Amino acid sequence: MHASSPSRYLPAVRTRPTSWWLESLRKRRARMAGEHLDLSQPISFASQAQRAAAIAFFNAAFRAEESGLRQAHELADEVSSWDPDLAECLQLYGDEEGWHRELLTQFLSWLGGGIWPMGRTTRTFYRLYARARTMESIVLVNLMFETIGSTTYRLALRDVAHPAVRQMLTILTRDESFHVPLNVHFLRAAMARAPGARRRLRALYHTTFVALVASTVPSRRRALAFDGIPRRALGRAYAEQLARLFLDERDLGLAPSPLLLRAFALDERALLRMPSSVSLQAAENAADRANVTVTALER
Ligand SMILES: [Fe+2]
Ligand SMILES: [Fe+2]
Repeated sequence: MHASSPSRYLPAVRTRPTSWWLESLRKRRARMAGEHLDLSQPISFASQAQRAAAIAFFNAAFRAEESGLRQAHELADEVSSWDPDLAECLQLYGDEEGWHRELLTQFLSWLGGGIWPMGRTTRTFYRLYARARTMESIVLVNLMFETIGSTTYRLALRDVAHPAVRQMLTILTRDESFHVPLNVHFLRAAMARAPGARRRLRALYHTTFVALVASTVPSRRRALAFDGIPRRALGRAYAEQLARLFLDERDLGLAPSPLLLRAFALDERALLRMPSSVSLQAAENAADRANVTVTALER
């Protein structure tokens, strides 16, 4: 009998063991301590409305960090009984979101604002998110939030000139580019323990997709005067990035349905030509903070 070529049977390497993620996160922690925002140059705005829009923009970022931090630490507690290494990854990941939250707190006061109470839409959103109870649904929604966060930051980077604002956006984008594939690792670990969850997750992916694209309407009312991103461009970028997420990750079964692609006028082949933000390559490129190049997204 012929020995068949092993490559026909071995799946392409698309994952790394938890130990790899843990080692990367520990290295990242060491770097984090030495990084500070340079807020030495004051910022001026064309109008009070523009200042308010900037404060609204970074308040939305603050709420995302706060929620990511809480969810990650709650999951770390839960996971520690069955996988201590994975639990430590969740803990360190939550710590990174906590560091972002701290930076945003400083940054918001430098902008002449502070932490605002959540608006109605934001509250509804986080309430919806808080209903996600299982690890797989929490990390799925989380990575979709991170995706639209970094999409918005990259679009904003195109026009923003002040160095401190650029630094804040760059730090967030750079770190989210590691968090998104990290959350896919969490998702795989959770799904391995909940094999029956796939259909429920698919439904959750699709409803969250639509809700996030729809969220561009209230977001434009609040932040357009600061970031200048038109509603259509933002909605389009969200739809593309969210649809691209799992196209290569066939094992997860979370590719967008043909109906969804049609509804948002998305072409699967065109999406596949875009780089994947969740691939192992993306994670490896983003793991070392010092080596990440953040590029603005074209509108
Ligand atoms: Fe973050
Ligand atoms: Fe993040």
